[in-house]
Amino acid sequence: MEQINDYMCRYKNFNFVKNLTTAEYIDSLQSFEIRDSDIFLVTYPKSGTIWTQQIIISICELGGGLNEYPNNYDQMPWLEYREGREDYYFRPSPRLFSSHLTPALMPPGLKDKKAKIIYVMRNPKDNIVSYYHFSSTFADLETPKSFEWLLEQFVKVPSSSWFDHIREWHLKKDQYNILFLTYEDMILDLKTAVTKICSFLGKNLSEEAIEQVVEKSTFKTMKKDSKANYEFIPEERFSGKFLRKGQIGDWKNIFTVAQSERIDKVLQEKLGDLSLKFIWE
Ligand code: A3P
Repeated sequence: MEQINDYMCRYKNFNFVKNLTTAEYIDSLQSFEIRDSDIFLVTYPKSGTIWTQQIIISICELGGGLNEYPNNYDQMPWLEYREGREDYYFRPSPRLFSSHLTPALMPPGLKDKKAKIIYVMRNPKDNIVSYYHFSSTFADLETPKSFEWLLEQFVKVPSSSWFDHIREWHLKKDQYNILFLTYEDMILDLKTAVTKICSFLGKNLSEEAIEQVVEKSTFKTMKKDSKANYEFIPEERFSGKFLRKGQIGDWKNIFTVAQSERIDKVLQEKLGDLSLKFIWE
């Protein structure tokens, strides 16, 4: 892997957090055997990953047959950051995985369209604001020199930017069995999002069970849930909160008008042809 700075490495056109994975391991994903029952959650970082993890895990728990693990991180580990967790390869089905990877780096077996992928997108302005706070408090990531500096990186990072992630997954969507959701849809109507995920996963939950999943996945409940709130990450590694604000439109508290127009322009240039719909407030 080519080292970019003290925090990040680059391999196959993708930026990885340093020391959490290796080129050999990323290559090995090309022969990673997919089971029909596998469920993958794919996101760009800070799009609502741990929220959707909680929804998927709660649905699978209520649907029956899910092995218990100490917390959601162990229950639904990141595919690319193995951290000595090869054991998940041999887990009983259904195996649950999280990932921030782009299609080219994912196991090719996913293209058989049997395993399921849930892809969650968040509007880029709130996404970067969330990332700004996160990277300021996460020891593995470079602390931004300023918001303006981070915005430059966000727009420019080659082949591994928010824009590339969204583009790649949307362009390749026909190759996968994939459900697209947005963070904003989940905020505006969590029950509908939970119901959609349930039916995509083929879980026939009662109305009461769906309500239970919704309740377990609210910001307030998750913040108190020690399996789901990621407060199990040691303080010296992460001193912030995964469940920070949980709102649409926090970008308005940081962005200048010029910065907002810059994102609008890049969005149009890079994704204008995809007719995606964004909710900004
Ligand atoms: P904010 O920093 O804007 O608050 P990820 O899990 O991909 O790292 O995303 C983290 C973002 O999702 C954070 O956004 C966090 O607050 C938000 N989030 C996590 N759980 C949530 C929930 N139950 N409801 C709403 N937002 C949630």
